Amino acid sequence: MPSGIRDADAVIRVRDLQKRYGEVQAVAGISFEVGRGEVFGLLGPNGAGKSTTIEILEGLRAQDAGEATVLGLDVRHQASALKERIGVQLQSAALYPRLTVHEVLELFASFYASSVPPDQLIEALDLGERRNAQTRQLSGGQRQRLSVALSLVNDPELVFLDEPTTGMDPAARRSLWDLVRGLRAKGRTVLLTTHYMEEAEELCDRLAIMDHGRILEIGTVDQLVSRRFTERTIRYERLSGIDDATLAAFPGVTRVAHEDDEATLLYTRDVAGTIGALLGAAEARGVEPRGLGIRSPSLEDVFLALTGHAIRD
Ligand SMILES: Nc1ncnc2c1ncn2[C@@H]1O[C@H](COP(=O)(O)OP(=O)(O)OP(=O)(O)O)[C@@H](O)[C@H]1O
Ligand SMILES: [Mg+2]
Repeated sequence: MPSGIRDADAVIRVRDLQKRYGEVQAVAGISFEVGRGEVFGLLGPNGAGKSTTIEILEGLRAQDAGEATVLGLDVRHQASALKERIGVQLQSAALYPRLTVHEVLELFASFYASSVPPDQLIEALDLGERRNAQTRQLSGGQRQRLSVALSLVNDPELVFLDEPTTGMDPAARRSLWDLVRGLRAKGRTVLLTTHYMEEAEELCDRLAIMDHGRILEIGTVDQLVSRRFTERTIRYERLSGIDDATLAAFPGVTRVAHEDDEATLLYTRDVAGTIGALLGAAEARGVEPRGLGIRSPSLEDVFLALTGHAIRD
């Protein structure tokens, strides 16, 4: 059980979930929990099994093995009760091409006993200018925003978003992030998939890194980074007069490296001690380090270390 979630608070509970398509093991035995009010991310490259996982949790696809409960309902046997209570944004939603944005929102609203007024969603997803456009006339990013709007029609307590910002320009992406934060502020739970590191870092309270149908690691961004990397990197423009043996003896330094001929990198477990020693040594030699900076490992570094490849290759 991940830290911070008591069993009773879990709105999604997945145990050893598996799904195979012919030869392809799309989901290879994954387990995780999502707590009420969390924004939880599945981060992984193409083919990692993110959509398969999310579609099983939405009750749209049957697993081969393993257990999945969502809002206390078994996704395999109680899918229709589940659909009332969740919001679903699909990665490739088929929208009615000849209906307008407003009409398609009205249509979806009519499926539910209670629903959010279409114009409120049009406003929230910034689709006002396209209100009366047929969905086939929308740009990719606008279609994407409409599919997110549709997922919110029943004012769900749990929303599934499958790569919600793919195809969006940076402004639309940021405004969608704000919308997700707004859902969290209202106590809603969000499970989203993404292959954007920045999105995962900005938005997710916790995330699972997925590759080849497996979850490699789960945690907050800080936990993922600090579990794997205990060091920070200090970088500065190369100084003459301090040799590597001297640098290696500074407090906390575990490794000394050089970037081309231009910069020196000190890997350290004691940032303050290392910088103090560096400034002291430089002063004694009458020089001053320039371009001094500290770099912390990022989620991207974690991903690379875990999978051995970049998320887009
Ligand atoms: N309906 C299907 N029939 C056969 N194979 C499938 C089907 N759906 C997915 N797969 C395969 O299962 C694996 C996982 O696919 P999935 O769509 O779950 O990945 P994903 O992480 O969502 O990828 P993406 O980032 O491209 O959306 C892939 O190898 C994919 O080709
Ligand atoms: Mg997918």
